[in-house]
Amino acid sequence: MKRALIPGTFDPITTGHLDIISRASQLVDEVVVGVAASPNKNPLFSLEERVALAQESTKHLPNVLVTSFDSLLVDFAASIDAEILIKGLRAITDFEYEFQMTALNYQLNKMIETIFIMSPPQFMYLSSSIVREIASLHGTLDGFVTPCVKAALEAKFAS
Ligand code: PNS
Repeated sequence: MKRALIPGTFDPITTGHLDIISRASQLVDEVVVGVAASPNKNPLFSLEERVALAQESTKHLPNVLVTSFDSLLVDFAASIDAEILIKGLRAITDFEYEFQMTALNYQLNKMIETIFIMSPPQFMYLSSSIVREIASLHGTLDGFVTPCVKAALEAKFAS
């Protein structure tokens, strides 16, 4: 039974994340989407909201489940018996940060392997922060997020 963990802040989950999650779900028996508390990032959505939006957005994927964590990533991965971390890699700008995190996580726990899935060109530019900015300026969110995330973003910026 191969279980992979896809970690992130998911503030909120985007169609770029979903592309990675759904491709990862074809490669392993079970994917756990780990929503990090990330209090230092001052998220727009609460942890509970981010988990609920990720759950709703992945409900069509039978071997994907969503949960939150507020510990070290490698400790959380070990606690759920996930030996694989899967990350999405968009452009060269992601590389330096991910390179550092991968080396650090490997140093912390050598039993856990990090694997990258490259984002396809149509999602290279997409990020949660871009989506939040579009929503804050009342731009169109179609194609960037699922309908439930769109509704949640519109509600946040309704005033
Ligand atoms: O979607 P993000 O914000 O780029 O995800 C970053 C995340 C959550 C994967 C990263 O911050 C993380 O692993 N947080 C958990 C705490 C931890 O283990 N940090 C790295 C070692 S200091």
